Parts: sequence; structure tokens; C-alpha cells
Amino acid sequence: MTRLTTLADPEAVAERAASEIARRLASAKRERGVAHLALSGGTTPGRTYELLAGELPMRAGLEDWQDVEIWFADERCVDKDDPESNYKLAFETFLDPTGIPDERVHRMEGELGPEQGATGYEQALRERVSGRDGDLPVLDAIVLGIGPDGHVASLFPGAPTLEAGEEAVCLGVHDSPKPPPDRITLSLGVLRAARRCLLLATGASKADAVAAMLGEPTRHVPASLLARDKLSVILDDAAAPPGPLARG
Ligand code: 6PG
Repeated sequence: MTRLTTLADPEAVAERAASEIARRLASAKRERGVAHLALSGGTTPGRTYELLAGELPMRAGLEDWQDVEIWFADERCVDKDDPESNYKLAFETFLDPTGIPDERVHRMEGELGPEQGATGYEQALRERVSGRDGDLPVLDAIVLGIGPDGHVASLFPGAPTLEAGEEAVCLGVHDSPKPPPDRITLSLGVLRAARRCLLLATGASKADAVAAMLGEPTRHVPASLLARDKLSVILDDAAAPPGPLARG
């Protein structure tokens, strides 16, 4: 079942998210010797990334960043130094401060464009991630935001990417309604195959999308198609839909 947690404010959401990520990575390392974490962009996860670069992971049981491999849920097709780059956000807030070496940071190469970038990334995932669900690589934890339209990663409502075959791993996007239009995204299949997705939402502008994602699964709300038995939704009060919800 979806684990739904509502907290007072964005800072509490970031703390809860960072601590759950750290716990899941620590247990992946214990069980399989390696942990695979995928990151999203946008404004929501930045504070979580900053906390991951501090003392909090240690308190949550993750002693160090050895054997942790970093991936991305999606990327905008811009240069890696562009202010729009998801990699740049992750690098500045988390990867650079923690000093995770480049060989364990798997950047989606947005500058190559949607198709070439997606093909290269699929190859890297297939080579480096040994867990399999059918033919799909299994990541240990994927951090997701949600758009007011219910998109996750760069999977937008009604987009052709949602119709990709079950074997699709990584896809090019050309007409994203959220700028920039060209992007690279993990497929819905890979999000569904992950051991855990953590979806973070803060602010009243997300409340309708959160309510919709908890309703009937529909391609009009991509977040509603995530695997609910492996989903942690962490909200602040403003993003929580009306009605009784678990408080963390
Ligand atoms: C991206 C994303 C996207 C994001 C949501 C929420 O645009 O790079 O990964 O899926 O997570 O649009 O964005 P905000 O956190 O900025 O609201």
C-alpha cells in the first residue's frame, strides 16, 4: 500500500525524505552490496539533497556514500552547466558536497538530445544495474516530484511515452508542456520496477494533483500509474488533499 505521510512544512518533508532515502540505501548496501538511487529535478527536492549532504544520513544508518550509484529520473536537454539542468541542481546541492566520485554518478546527457541521450542512458542502466524485473533494471530508490498536472519525471499526461512498450527503459521527450520541451526520462516501467519511489510534494499548487494521483489510475495523471505498493508519498499540509490522512 502507498505510504502517505503529511508533515507541517517543506523542511519536515525534506527531513523525512532524506532520512527514508538514507535508510533504504543502507539496507540495499547491506543486502546487495550496492545501492542505486535516482534523482529528479525541479524546485521540490533541493532541500532534501542538501540534507543528504549533511549529517542526517549517518543518523539514519547510512555510514558513507561508498557503493552508492547515482542516477537520474529525468533530465532537460540542456548543457550540464545550464541553470535548467537537473544534474547541476544535484551536483551543487548533494554530489559535490558529498564527493561521490564521477564514475558513480550517471548523468543523463541532455546535450546529446532526447533520442541519443535516452539510448546511451538505457545502455548504462542495463550495464550497471544488475537487479531485474523482467527485462527492466531495478533501482533501489527514485526521488520524484509531481507537477500540478500530475506528471512525474518527464512523463506528461497523455504523452506517447506512456504508451511505450513494457521493455522501454529510457525515452526521449520532444514536446514537454513544462519547458524546456526536449527531455530524457526513465520509462513508467522503470519507475514501476523500482524497489521504492518517494514522491515529494509541497505547497497548495500540488494539492489537486496529489488528490488525483491517489484516485483511479489514469494516463491523464501519470503519477497515478506508479506502483502503489512501493510508493512513499511525503507531503506538507498545504499539498495534502482534504480528508483524513496519516500524519507523520
Ligand atoms: C523536472 C522534473 C519534474 C519535477 C516536477 C515538479 O522538471 O525536471 O523532474 O518531474 O519533479 O515538475 O517540479 P517542482 O518541484 O519544480 O514543482
